[in-house]
Amino acid sequence: MPKEVIEMERKKVTITDLRNKKREGKKITMLTAYDYPLARIMDEAGVDSILVGDSLGMVVLGYESTVPVTMDEMIHHAKAARRGTRYAFLIGDMPFMSYQINRDEAIRNAGRFMKEAGCDAVKLEGGYEVAETSQAIIDAGIPVLGHLGLTPQTISKLGGFKVQGKDAQAAKRIIDQALALEKVGCFAIVLECVPDELAKLVTERLSIPTIGIGAGPHCDGQVLVTHDMVGLFDRFVPKFVKQYTKLSLSISGAVSQFKEDVERGKFPAKEHCFAIKEEDLKKLKKGEA
Ligand code: KIV
Repeated sequence: MPKEVIEMERKKVTITDLRNKKREGKKITMLTAYDYPLARIMDEAGVDSILVGDSLGMVVLGYESTVPVTMDEMIHHAKAARRGTRYAFLIGDMPFMSYQINRDEAIRNAGRFMKEAGCDAVKLEGGYEVAETSQAIIDAGIPVLGHLGLTPQTISKLGGFKVQGKDAQAAKRIIDQALALEKVGCFAIVLECVPDELAKLVTERLSIPTIGIGAGPHCDGQVLVTHDMVGLFDRFVPKFVKQYTKLSLSISGAVSQFKEDVERGKFPAKEHCFAIKEEDLKKLKKGEA
């Protein structure tokens, strides 16, 4: 089918589409993007949802963790991702301390993602401790994506990047918190770094979709940090990541080639240059211009 016809038939993804996918047993796809070109590539490739994750802090801004990321940084990148996104459901990730202090501040910050960056929803990390805040944001008219299991903003409290819900008690707590987030109206829940059988149980118990990252194949959808998936961030590669390509190698190959070409006078070549008319050049050289 011609590209224009496909484009005409494509509609913007909504929460209803995501819910329907779960009901129909179709998998949901989500990837992170923090700028215009990557968001555009993903949107054109047809992913259901783009997450402007606070993983931005580590994979693009070079921070040691997601903790230092600010609201202004998130809004700046979410705006750029918005400009590259036509169809995918765009979610802004609320950074650490943008929703913990009080309800009003949380609503105001969630509202910035919608009003300033044009996001379709926001994501909050946590369970019981963010349930009321999530409800208040939802009541203000902003859809909320929950996030349970390994929650990188509270890595210090969790004692490191560790699999969560490994014993019966911890697993039960994750199930109960998922039910609590569903009850307050979250439209879906990210499950990060939990055993796949636990993710299966959560997925079966919820009527809203689960989106897994390091949570096995039984979730209703999958999300990955794009820079991990395309090999652009290799400070460490988590076990659950599948690297589909190694972009850092291609880029470093291109950079070395550029350096060599410039140093040897091979770039720019004739085809990269602009011409001036012969007579104008003569005038210029004679000082008659
Ligand atoms: O920040 C992020 O990219 C995320 C995903 C890993 C779900 O929260």
